[in-house]
Amino acid sequence: MPATKTNWADLESRYYMRTFNRQPVVFERGEGCYLYDDEGKSYLDLVGGIAVNILGHAHPVIVEAITEQAKKLLHTSSLYYSEPQLELAEWLIQRSPADRIFFANSGAEANEGALKLARKYGKTRRNGAYEVITIEHSFHGRTLATLAATGQSKYHEPFAPMPDGFQYVPMNDFAAMQQAVSAKTAAIMLEAVQGESGVHPHTREYLHQIRKLCDDNNVLLICDEVQCGLGRTGTFYGFEQFGIEPDVITLAKGLAGGLPIGAFLAKERCAVLEPGDHGSTMGGNPVCCAAGIAAMKYLESHDLMGNAKRAGDQFVAEIGNLKASLPGITEIRGVGLMVAFDTEQPIAAEIVKQGLKNGVILNATGPNTVRMVPPLIISSGEVEKAVGLVAESLQAAS
Ligand SMILES: Cc1ncc(COP(=O)(O)O)c(C=O)c1O
Repeated sequence: MPATKTNWADLESRYYMRTFNRQPVVFERGEGCYLYDDEGKSYLDLVGGIAVNILGHAHPVIVEAITEQAKKLLHTSSLYYSEPQLELAEWLIQRSPADRIFFANSGAEANEGALKLARKYGKTRRNGAYEVITIEHSFHGRTLATLAATGQSKYHEPFAPMPDGFQYVPMNDFAAMQQAVSAKTAAIMLEAVQGESGVHPHTREYLHQIRKLCDDNNVLLICDEVQCGLGRTGTFYGFEQFGIEPDVITLAKGLAGGLPIGAFLAKERCAVLEPGDHGSTMGGNPVCCAAGIAAMKYLESHDLMGNAKRAGDQFVAEIGNLKASLPGITEIRGVGLMVAFDTEQPIAAEIVKQGLKNGVILNATGPNTVRMVPPLIISSGEVEKAVGLVAESLQAAS
């Protein structure tokens, strides 16, 4: 009897929470910057699992690291010392302005930990200050506290009342930030380059002003590097593009090249968490950390940061050329391999749909905005091909 093909869309609609508007495609495997669906069709992947698959799909160094670690030990918890966890901790601390690290499982969890650290810092070092100021249109995660930190009211409304202690100010508006800082402020939290809002960088001047404001007021600066960190902007951390150093850094997404992981890092002077304050059963799991070590070593040894800068510049230049030949693109933004363009008409979702037909995976961050956060290994030829497919998809959507 011929095997009947499972209807995955049907299963999802019957059993899964109604949380996702999924694209109508089932990916079966991936290799490099390409994904392949259940009919063998190939797609050039410019989403990379939402900025996660920094080494692309099925990279041999990640596969080998996971396989070797899985044969030895999957999990013990952090009640005991763990070789991969501590090796990755050392690697990251040696390449960051921070002194201590804690591993979690996701970006939201990394930010949640950083927010707890800021609250404890405020309680013990700043007369009980507890408030965290964040930036409008930011995105920091889906747990209650990280949602409250996220400067987008559309995400708050279904779950109100939100946890107390958050304030939002417009991006790059230093006067507003100055006004918002008070005796209650424990920390300012921001993405050096906002990702989910559609690739919006802060200005250098603003970030330097914020750094000084924090220093003058004993307020912590937390940089959420979940999306803009790990080489994507052309430097290891996104904030390095602007010449500032935060007190606290959060990481996730690409850190283990595709396995779940998150981390928050802090300078010694504000690493105030003590035994009992925080924990995570799976955080810093040996397999995820082994993948993390492999991903980070490859990132460094193969100059993927340099490639992110070169490929990102190529994207911006080539989409810029499209702007001349294809009316409808209003703006292109890019910092390394965080690239987005805006369209005059609200056709971003349609561009994504046409992209799937044409064999390119794109992501709409708003009705008029298409974002690209591909693997950092993407080649110049692949960028050229991708821009051709974007052009075709844009034309079909217009
Ligand atoms: C800047 C930023 N912070 C936090 C998060 C949340 O990460 P996660 O989905 O791993 O919880 C995201 C996710 O897109 C993000 O872009």
